[in-house]
Amino acid sequence: MSGPAGEELPEPVRRLVAEAWTFRWRVELEAALRFARLAERLGELGEPEAMVALARRASEDERRHAGLCEALAREYGQRVLPEAPTAVTEVAPARLPPRERVLYELVAACCITETESTAVLTTLLVPDGSPRVRPVLRELLRDEVMHSRLGWAQLSRAHAEGAQGAVAFLGRYIPAMLEGGTSPRLFTPGSPEEESPELLRHGVLPHTRKREVFVQALHEVVLPGLERFGVDTAPARQWLAQRGA
Ligand SMILES: [Fe+2]
Ligand SMILES: [Fe+2]
Repeated sequence: MSGPAGEELPEPVRRLVAEAWTFRWRVELEAALRFARLAERLGELGEPEAMVALARRASEDERRHAGLCEALAREYGQRVLPEAPTAVTEVAPARLPPRERVLYELVAACCITETESTAVLTTLLVPDGSPRVRPVLRELLRDEVMHSRLGWAQLSRAHAEGAQGAVAFLGRYIPAMLEGGTSPRLFTPGSPEEESPELLRHGVLPHTRKREVFVQALHEVVLPGLERFGVDTAPARQWLAQRGA
């Protein structure tokens, strides 16, 4: 049984759309938890109040996004949502000092993940997209652009005022960040349903397109951005090459 939004879709495609919005619902809730913790940590480190406020605001945005994604998941026929996450593990290695850990997490969450989301959302805003989905994509896009800036701003500041090596430590960790932010399946072939061009109108990228958008945004936005602020991207480029991208 499908909700009103997915009625005209073949069942396997409708199901993929419902699963994708359910997955996003979860990712948004995790992002809300992550930004709330980052706001606290930024405050503890004595970072400018504007940065703390941005992180707090991002957390609230993500909670609102989760509500939008949940509504769409249900409209596409997702009857039961999994249990909501109540905690997110810290992605930065525990051995790093607190300031580095926060920068690590901001680079992973904002410079990489949010920048990638922005590329995905931009690609999804096709003119013939479902009228139910388009406003949601636009709202998400508007906010994720701001969230990515939080990371780039922090990286830029660390680079500008930091002693030698304040950001250089990040280079060798970028592959781990990429690994953590992508499914290993991204670089393997998708099923015929996952390649269905019909997905696009409902806010989901067909599998090959998803990989292309991910790699393109890395090459054109994320890696040049990291380099500009003194982060070595050779390990990241090697990671990509190993995946045939
Ligand atoms: Fe979001
Ligand atoms: Fe976000």
